[in-house]
Amino acid sequence: METILTEPVAGPVINALRSIGYNPRTAIADIIDNSIDAKAKKIKLQFEYNDGNGYIQIIDNGNGMDLTEIQNAMSIGSKDPRNERGDKELGRFGMGLKTASFSLGKRLSVISKKNDVLVERCWDLDYVSQTNRWDLFTEIPLEVRSNIAEITSICGTVVYIDKLDRFMRAGHNPILANSFFSKVDRIYNHLSFVFHTLINEDLCIEINENSLDAWDPFLSSHDYTNPLRPRVLKDGIGKIKVSTYILPHASYLTPKEYKQAGGIKGWNEHQGFYIYRENRLLHFGNWLDIFPKDQASQLARVRIDITNKSDELWHVDIKKSMVSPPDNIKSQLKAIAREARDISKQVFYFRTQSNTSDTTVRSNINTWRQEDNETGTVFKLNRSHPLLQRIIEDVSDETVKNLKMFLKLVELGSPANIVIIPKVEEEKVQQISESDKSLISELANMYKQLMDSDSLDELTNIILMTPSMEKFNRNTIKFVIEEKDYAGDN
Ligand SMILES: Nc1ncnc2c1ncn2[C@@H]1O[C@H](COP(=O)(O)OP(=O)(O)O)[C@@H](O)[C@H]1O
Ligand SMILES: [Mg+2]
Repeated sequence: METILTEPVAGPVINALRSIGYNPRTAIADIIDNSIDAKAKKIKLQFEYNDGNGYIQIIDNGNGMDLTEIQNAMSIGSKDPRNERGDKELGRFGMGLKTASFSLGKRLSVISKKNDVLVERCWDLDYVSQTNRWDLFTEIPLEVRSNIAEITSICGTVVYIDKLDRFMRAGHNPILANSFFSKVDRIYNHLSFVFHTLINEDLCIEINENSLDAWDPFLSSHDYTNPLRPRVLKDGIGKIKVSTYILPHASYLTPKEYKQAGGIKGWNEHQGFYIYRENRLLHFGNWLDIFPKDQASQLARVRIDITNKSDELWHVDIKKSMVSPPDNIKSQLKAIAREARDISKQVFYFRTQSNTSDTTVRSNINTWRQEDNETGTVFKLNRSHPLLQRIIEDVSDETVKNLKMFLKLVELGSPANIVIIPKVEEEKVQQISESDKSLISELANMYKQLMDSDSLDELTNIILMTPSMEKFNRNTIKFVIEEKDYAGDN
């Protein structure tokens, strides 16, 4: 069949490429990925305000590129995403260098040194729009040359972005210096987080001469952090490592530790899954639509490690900021998340020291436990607490009975269990469950003995005043007491 070569028109394609959804933080992270792939040990970022005519440069001492490599690097879609990537490689679509840079500014200049040979290329989108052709400059312009860093190491690369219309303009005016630098601060925090597993003695990242401190969201070296047993899942292509951490209750952290562990978005926004691809953080801050976020689950942070072989299966997007697990993994993650959230709730409400991974021991020494039923969460006293067990062994049966009844009243009156329910006006006998019926009879028996009274009205009055009984009306209570009497004391 006949075909006609129909090349994309340069002008409109540029604007589409500039707007695929990077923000400055994700864009810079994507450019740093390339330096890490090139085995750089030192990556220096420089953000210059330059009187409103600013520039950004990323200088690395990685492997560098020769002429063919730099020419490929600058072409749009330089690698096929279907080809297998090298081990640990962070690249994906062969687009990042260009799309990330263009999301910040209109001119991208790259110089690189390999085997002592310097090579360079430059894209200027103003020129591409003007000519409507993908014409790449083989030399970088003079005004860039006067600012661009010199490569002092034996090999390395400098990526220089200017004409920063996106990064440093609001409408027609350049942004003010302080908002420029607060953007840089946000980038600093983001990168300390995204690359925290990779920053070590072999990799140093600096922004305007401040080196990044790795920020560990799991507080993994804190004594009271509870790391649960790691799990390995299989997605059909690679192994997925899942490590759950329950962070310490706030009362076990110093104010400084607490603030730091709250991260860039605060405790509540940092709960959930953290997905790492080749040790680089892709996504965090929720339970991937499996569960909603809630306050009491904020201590649970679950690290998921995937390799670059699982990219397609996990829908890793072009910006490397979105990811979505395949269905078979999702159901396993649900069980893991449920356990993590449950333990987080226990620690959050009861301030338990979560420093053992044996949940049964831990829940045994809690005085309260949480139970979820159809109306929500209720709190029950832990009847198997070792101290309570010992008291029960030591006292008479009669005292055990009274003690248990008292515990029940404490439970019913717990502020967390009291639900404000409008007074029931209707005097018709209500439909009530068997368990409520037996609770009312138990209360009636207890009050009968305590008050030494058989009066139906007196018993009904005091039961109505008992916490959690306000949902029943007088006739219902009377009916249950009488029915029980009628059925015979059992
Ligand atoms: N800092 C760098 N050092 C060495 N090579 C680089 C650097 N940046 C980019 N490259 C080369 O350019 C190619 C294209 O980069 P990019 O557009 O980000 O796509 P990808 O990272 O998906 O391959 C990389 O695969 C790499 O070969
Ligand atoms: Mg890349």
